[in-house]
Amino acid sequence: MIVAIYPGSFDPITNGHLDIIDRARKIFDHLIVAVLQNPNKVPLFSAEERKRMIEEAVADFSNVEVEVFDGLLVHFARSRGCRVILRGLRAISDYEYETQIALTNRKMAPEIETVFLPTSTEYSYLNSTVVKEIARFGGCVRGLVPPGVERRLREKFSSVSR
Ligand code: PNS
Repeated sequence: MIVAIYPGSFDPITNGHLDIIDRARKIFDHLIVAVLQNPNKVPLFSAEERKRMIEEAVADFSNVEVEVFDGLLVHFARSRGCRVILRGLRAISDYEYETQIALTNRKMAPEIETVFLPTSTEYSYLNSTVVKEIARFGGCVRGLVPPGVERRLREKFSSVSR
């Protein structure tokens, strides 16, 4: 039984993340999407809001669960019996940062392997920052994020004057 963990900020989840989750759930027996509660960053959505949006998006995926974590990822992974950390790679520019994280995690927890999954080409330009930027200034994010996220982004920014 291989349990993989897919960590991230997910502020908010995009269809690029969802594509990785959908493909990874067919590879691993169980997938934990782990939402980072980072005390050093002020996110647009609270950790609980981010978790709820992911739960809605993965509702039909029986072997996927969503949890919030803080502290070191490897501690959380160990506490859940995970042997694999999964990260999506969009472009070669992601590689340097991702390798640094992977090697740091391996130093701390050699029994846990990091696995990279290339993002599907249609989402290779997409990230949460781009999505928030579009939504903040009234652009359309349909097709970039799950419908529940699209709605919440609209609500979040509806009171912001443009
Ligand atoms: O979606 P992100 O912001 O690129 O995800 C980054 C994440 C959550 C994978 C990374 O910041 C993380 O694992 N943070 C937890 C703290 C930790 O374990 N740090 C050591 C490895 S750099």
